[in-house]
Amino acid sequence: MITIAKTFEFCASHRLFREEWSEEQNHNVYGKCANPNGHGHNYRLEVIVGGEIDSVTGMVMDASRLDDIVQQHLFSHVDHRDLNRDVPWLRGKVPTVEVLTEAFWDRLEQPIADAGSGAQLQKLILHETSKIFATKTRPRG
Ligand code: NI
Repeated sequence: MITIAKTFEFCASHRLFREEWSEEQNHNVYGKCANPNGHGHNYRLEVIVGGEIDSVTGMVMDASRLDDIVQQHLFSHVDHRDLNRDVPWLRGKVPTVEVLTEAFWDRLEQPIADAGSGAQLQKLILHETSKIFATKTRPRG
């Protein structure tokens, strides 16, 4: 298997809090990320797909097809949005970088598999800042 990776960027705001917790409890767990009016991030997403090289095109997957999938299934929902309120499939979740990575995996896995190249999503890396990122990797199987 050969993998190919593509990096994407989007902007979004969020607030980390649980409604059923007091303000103090939220601040103890989430710190300044619990501030009531939210804050923004410039997120960076690395999408790694793997498969076999097509003998004609020399590609594992057409990178522009991958762009289209990320745009349609992910960024049209999250770019320049409030992740707590604007995204139906994130409703009820605390939009930490870990939760987002898992939810983004669920958005992208099937469309990439359905794209017809035989490639599969192998790994997602979501950078929330230059210092913190989360990773999800396809289980071996
Ligand atoms: Ni944040």
